Amino acid sequence: MNDTPKLIVVVGTVMQTPTHRALQVLDNVAVVVRDGVVDAVLPAVSREAVDACGAADEVVHLSVRERLLPGLVDTHIHAPQWPQLGTGLDIPLERWLFEYTFPLEARYADAGFALDVWERMVPTLLAHGTTTAVYYSSIHEDATLRLAETCAHFGQRAFVGRVAMDHPEGTPEWYRDVDAAAGVAASARSVEAIRSLGSALVEPIITPRFIPACTHELLLGLGDLAARTGAVVQTHCSESDWEHGYVIERYGKRDAEMLAEFGLVRRGTVLAHGDHLCDDDFDIIRVAGAGVAHCPLSNSYFANAVFPLRRAQEWGVHVGLGSDVSGGPLPGLLPQCQHAVSASRMLEDGVDSARSPGERGVANSRVDVVAAFHAATLGGANMLGIPAGLIESGRAFDAIVVNADSGDSGLHYWDGIDNEERLFEKIVRLAAPSDITSVWVAGRRVAGA
Ligand code: GUN
Ligand code: FE
Repeated sequence: MNDTPKLIVVVGTVMQTPTHRALQVLDNVAVVVRDGVVDAVLPAVSREAVDACGAADEVVHLSVRERLLPGLVDTHIHAPQWPQLGTGLDIPLERWLFEYTFPLEARYADAGFALDVWERMVPTLLAHGTTTAVYYSSIHEDATLRLAETCAHFGQRAFVGRVAMDHPEGTPEWYRDVDAAAGVAASARSVEAIRSLGSALVEPIITPRFIPACTHELLLGLGDLAARTGAVVQTHCSESDWEHGYVIERYGKRDAEMLAEFGLVRRGTVLAHGDHLCDDDFDIIRVAGAGVAHCPLSNSYFANAVFPLRRAQEWGVHVGLGSDVSGGPLPGLLPQCQHAVSASRMLEDGVDSARSPGERGVANSRVDVVAAFHAATLGGANMLGIPAGLIESGRAFDAIVVNADSGDSGLHYWDGIDNEERLFEKIVRLAAPSDITSVWVAGRRVAGA
C-alpha cells in the first residue's frame, strides 16, 4: 500500500455514534492518522494539532459544509447477485433461490465473468461509503479468491466467504458441492487461499449458506473447520416463516439452537436476518459473542416479519446492518438506515388498519437514525471484531466525508434552521454517493477526490 501517506491530518467536524443512543459531534478537530490508524483526535486549534499539520504528508481541511463520519460496515451482501440487483423480487425466498439466484450464481464457474462483476461492484460500493463488506461469494473457489483479490486491490476491508451447500433437496444438482466432504475440503482450501494473499484488509469467512441447503454432515464439518482454523462464520438464520419452520421440522429445534450445536455460533459469527429469533435465541447469540446482520429492505420482501432491532440492541446482542444484495435491491448502507427506521415504526404502530391502534403493533419498537447508524458502523464492527466503526485513537481510519452542499440529492444545511443534530439526520436520510466526497480505508483514499 505505497499509496497510503504515512501521516495524514483531517481537520473538520466529526459525527459518529459511540452507542445506539447518542450522537457525538466533535466540532473542529484534527484527526491525526499515522500508518492508517487514528493516532489522536485533537482540538484543531491546539499546539499538537498545529505541529501535526506541519509534519503531515497530507492535510485535508474540510469545508464548513463537510462532515467526517466513520465508514459503513455492510455485514451481509451476496456478491454474485450483483447483476440482478433491483430485480426479481416477485416470488418468495424458496422459489427466488431456485428460479433466479442459483442459476445466476452457477455462472461464476467462469472466473472471467466473476472478475468482470467484482471490478464493477467493489468500486461502486466504495463510492457509496461501504468501507467494510461481509461477502457471500458463490461455491466456486476461483471466483471467491478473485473477489478477495479485488477487494485487496481496490482497498476495501472485507470478509470473503466461499458458499458451502450440498443438500440434495435444498440445492439443484447443477449448483452444489458434490458431498459434505467435498464442501468442507473446498471451504478449507478457500480459507487457506485467502489467508495466503497476506492482505491486512481481507479475511476469509466460513459460509454454510443456511440449514436448508446443507446436510447434517456438512454443517458439522464446517463447525469443526471454524474451530480448527479460527476463521469467523456467517450463515442465514430464522430469516422467514418457511426457513424458520423448515429447521424446526427437520430437527425439532430452532435455527439458532441448531447452528450453536454445530459449533457455528461463535465469537464474530454473523447471522443474517434473524427475523424470527426469540429471546432465548438472543441469549445464545449474545453469550457466544455472535451477532445479527439486520437487512431491513430485504426483509420487507422475504422475511414475513420485522426484525426487532431495538429489542436486540437493548438485549446486548451485536447488531450490524446489511444490504443483502440482491434480496435487498439497493447498494450501500445509508438507505438501509432509513429502512431500519421505517420498519421499526411499522413494527411499533402495526400495519392493519382494521385492528384498533392498541392491538396493531409492538410497543417500544421504534428506533431513530442514531440507532440505525450505530448498527451500520460500530455495531457491525463490534460484531466482527474489527477496529473500525468509530473515529478514535487506536482504530483504523475507515472514514467518509459527506458534503452537505454538493449535489442535487436535497441534502442541504439551511442557515438559521438547521443544527448539527438535524444535519446528521439529513445526512443519514439523504446523502447519495455524489455527496460522499472522500472515502478512506486504513488511511488509503479509495474513492472521492
Ligand atoms: N437464504 C439462503 N440463501 C439466501 C440468499 O441468497 N438471500 C437471502 N436473502 N436469503 C437466503
Ligand atoms: Fe442473504
